Amino acid sequence: MTKRVAIIGAGPSGLAQLRAFQSAKDKGADIPEVVCFEKQSDWGGLWNYTWRTGVDEYGNQCHGSMYRYLWSNGPKEGLEFADYTFEEHFGKAIASFPPRAVLFDYIKGRVEKAGVRDMIRFSTIVRDVRAADGGGFSVTTRDEVADVDASEHFDHVIVATGHFSVPNVPEYPGFDQFNGRILHAHDFRDAREFADKDILILGTSYSAEDIGSQCWKYGAKSITVAHRTAPMGFDWPDNWKEVPKLDRVEGRTAHFIDGTSKDVDAIILCTGYKHHFPFLPDDLRLKTANRLAAADLYKGVVWNNNPDMFYLGMQDQWYTFNMFDAQAWWARDAIMGRIKLPDAATMKQDVVDRVAAEDAIEDDYGAVAYQGAYTLELIEETDYPSFNVEAANQAFYEWKKHKKKGIMEFRNYGHTSPMTGTKAPAHHTAWKDALDDSLESYLEV
Ligand SMILES: Cc1cc2nc3c(=O)[nH]c(=O)nc-3n(C[C@H](O)[C@H](O)[C@H](O)COP(=O)(O)OP(=O)(O)OC[C@H]3O[C@@H](n4cnc5c(N)ncnc54)[C@H](O)[C@@H]3O)c2cc1C
Ligand SMILES: NC(=O)c1ccc[n+]([C@@H]2O[C@H](COP(=O)([O-])OP(=O)(O)OC[C@H]3O[C@@H](n4cnc5c(N)ncnc54)[C@H](OP(=O)(O)O)[C@@H]3O)[C@@H](O)[C@H]2O)c1
Repeated sequence: MTKRVAIIGAGPSGLAQLRAFQSAKDKGADIPEVVCFEKQSDWGGLWNYTWRTGVDEYGNQCHGSMYRYLWSNGPKEGLEFADYTFEEHFGKAIASFPPRAVLFDYIKGRVEKAGVRDMIRFSTIVRDVRAADGGGFSVTTRDEVADVDASEHFDHVIVATGHFSVPNVPEYPGFDQFNGRILHAHDFRDAREFADKDILILGTSYSAEDIGSQCWKYGAKSITVAHRTAPMGFDWPDNWKEVPKLDRVEGRTAHFIDGTSKDVDAIILCTGYKHHFPFLPDDLRLKTANRLAAADLYKGVVWNNNPDMFYLGMQDQWYTFNMFDAQAWWARDAIMGRIKLPDAATMKQDVVDRVAAEDAIEDDYGAVAYQGAYTLELIEETDYPSFNVEAANQAFYEWKKHKKKGIMEFRNYGHTSPMTGTKAPAHHTAWKDALDDSLESYLEV
């Protein structure tokens, strides 16, 4: 095969794609030439922690949104690789909500074993992609270390740049006069900065819940969370209050639309992220809301306007690593001609049907089941090792119930692996008391 394939990004999605091609090669297939471009100096995407905020060492937008002390927010049993289990990597069963460093180690373990690192050009940012006359794409990159630009032709482009990196930053009246710090979750790094402080959080999704919980764990004086739509409604600790939407800020006083107010030291905007692809022109650029059925992607991966291009991991996420795998194996097989794409009308209708099915979902349980079924649908069309998706759904359902029971305690439970059937042990220390999130500390018995 002489095809050339460009993968943009070496986070979990891009690494899944590399592993998919390498696995076909291992089985004797003639695979295309694959080049992965990664703007950071190491792999792992968001899991590759950086202390930097704003711009990186080369003046490009800093990719990292992860913070110190971050532990998985969902059970690891929902994201486990089917071809590389946690037990294989760690040599034993480990607890269900690993800190970032532990998950980073797991992600690295699989691709180190696969030996795909030399397919990645690190510190190389993709600056521009254009559909080429006569087919394929012209991809312009900059090697930031050598400080040199290059343009190359590829038959396929796979965009795996993630969508939780470019912050959605609203402005409220009085922000420009606030006598404290205003930051987006993207720039949050160390909860200890907010010890003994009164903080206001805007937003009610995972960042709001988890950054608030971090600040509480590391000694914030009070946490106030303002909701635009509805409160999170958990049974919060005494110094945590949910209030209606922010109206304005005066000095260091936040005023809410019900007429109440609170003096705060810092405002953390947990207001989500944008799908942002500054290197893509209009005809190739995905424009979608953060939802389970992303716009314009057949099977959630093929760019309908130019089916030589693929996107991975662009959906909102319950399932993560194993869903990226399912997508990567599927994209690989489409590129290698093992899966034939249907006509344009069928591909368009596929998106319409997926959107309608998502719109009919009634609650979070339905959303988990929907994404589990989507993952299984793709897996069944490739040779990715199938797994008990229903067991993974169950782990998510139990997790949701644990959160309702105790929002600061849900990480103390163990869940059952859909891959090995092993029930994870409870962690040796309750999450709220475990201030050291290092790999060594987590793996202690
Ligand atoms: C704060 C936070 C916590 C999270 N916690 C969890 C969790 O606990 N469990 C879970 O399952 N998921 C979690 N997620 C979801 C997360 O999206 C996935 O786990 C996963 O990182 C997505 O992988 P990805 O490869 O699609 O994107 P990313 O991890 O974002 O990786 C994209 C890669 O593309 C590179 N890139 C971007 N632009 C370019 C360019 N122009 N040229 C070259 N390279 C480029 C980036 O440097 C990066 O390495 C979390 C997300 C956030 C923001
Ligand atoms: N520990 C962890 O593992 C961890 C921690 C943090 C984040 N994450 C991951 O990060 C990803 C992103 O989560 P996220 O919470 O950052 O984003 P998100 O899920 O997209 O949620 C965005 C939130 O911002 C609110 N919002 C948007 N615009 C607003 C405005 N103008 N004013 C007030 N509120 C506004 C939304 O409110 P409405 O409901 O009103 O629209 C919503 O609550 C998820 O995949 C999550 O799993 C994981």
